[in-house]
Amino acid sequence: MDKKPIIFANWKMYKTVEESVRDSLKIDSSIRNPHQVEVFILLSYTSIYAVSQALRGKSVKVGAQNVFWEDSGSYTGEVSPLQLKDAGCEYAMVGHAERREIFGEDYGMIARKFKAVMRHGLIPILCVGESEQERASGKTEEVIRNQLEVAFGGTVPPGGQFYILYEPVWAIGTGVTPTPQEANHINLLVAEVIRGLIGKSAERARILYGGSVSEENISKFLSMDHIDGVGIGKASLDPENFARLVNACIRD
Ligand code: PGA
Repeated sequence: MDKKPIIFANWKMYKTVEESVRDSLKIDSSIRNPHQVEVFILLSYTSIYAVSQALRGKSVKVGAQNVFWEDSGSYTGEVSPLQLKDAGCEYAMVGHAERREIFGEDYGMIARKFKAVMRHGLIPILCVGESEQERASGKTEEVIRNQLEVAFGGTVPPGGQFYILYEPVWAIGTGVTPTPQEANHINLLVAEVIRGLIGKSAERARILYGGSVSEENISKFLSMDHIDGVGIGKASLDPENFARLVNACIRD
């Protein structure tokens, strides 16, 4: 299996189409030795088609921050995996903590999204992670285990890779992170739980860390045995800053 570090930007609801195109091109042209890393940007729906056209044949790829589970139908306001693929997406995130907390998504819904994305040959990024309160009451491992059990529901569609992002809710946008060793420990737990749930298919998983990744800590997270990549929110919004973070992980 390809073991390049995976580094992705989550631009949340921050950029216009024009800004997204401009900044993605800037990132693409600033990465040294792009074959050494897998880089993609999770965009607002409105920017996906324009950015994927602008990045045609280039190394940086495009993904969505959310998706619906049906292929088509009367689902006002939703976007299907087929539509994402048609617009140029290769990845789709499911179950980000902001979707769970603000929009009430539960793991039953997330499980349907996760499987729908895989069925259509896109790479899903499934988010798991405990809240501050769950952490304080010593429930981190139990929470992660439950989230994975529901999301996998004992089976996954055949096909390609899938990514799991361990992103503790208390680390998102706060500047506070677990230590790389703590994150590594949880990523190993994720690997073991998935193996228990789906056996050999677990080889298709790559397990990432997210939450306040910055220039100071990115290399430390990526040096851990069980952290295959990182997801970056705030520190990815400035394209020069994001490219610097990516370049910090590339050998000359
Ligand atoms: P952050 O966001 O890097 O700003 O903590 C991460 C995320 O929400 O995916």
